[in-house]
Amino acid sequence: MLSKKLQDAFNEQMKNEFFSAYLYMAMAGYFQSEDLPGFANWMRIQALEEMTHGEKFFNFTCETGGRTNLLPLDGPQNDFASPVAVFEAGLKHEKFVTASINNLMNMAVKDKDHASQIFLHWFVTEQIEEEANFSLILKKLQRVAGDGRGLLMLDQELGQRVFVPPGTGGAQA
Ligand code: FEO
Repeated sequence: MLSKKLQDAFNEQMKNEFFSAYLYMAMAGYFQSEDLPGFANWMRIQALEEMTHGEKFFNFTCETGGRTNLLPLDGPQNDFASPVAVFEAGLKHEKFVTASINNLMNMAVKDKDHASQIFLHWFVTEQIEEEANFSLILKKLQRVAGDGRGLLMLDQELGQRVFVPPGTGGAQA
């Protein structure tokens, strides 16, 4: 059984995950407007992944006798100075999510809530991958720096990403 404090924090994290989907769709919209469909594809798939993350918190809260509370989402940033600026913002956001997951884990440990700790382990591992994916693409973009041909090659690469639901191997960059 979730403590009231952890239940509230899980609802807050559910909002963070659904907001992530909203943010990455906004980034996909930016890339569409820049005629970079491969980058847009990568972001759309990232948004789908985030929806599954939010759903995990929804399901776990229900299964452990908690009460879900869908909180209002803020409007995401829609305009960016460059593809580099998008991935800088994405990496910054993922670091925020990592910090909030770690905070939830600390709360679950304090509560001696073993079920929540096991549930959160998946997210701790996932956040390593999330940060690594954003960081790698950011580095590639920085290396390309203004070279249009390099940018188009990267766009083609990111256009290959497909959505793999969690638990069936995970989606990679
Ligand atoms: Fe669900 Fe990208 O963190």
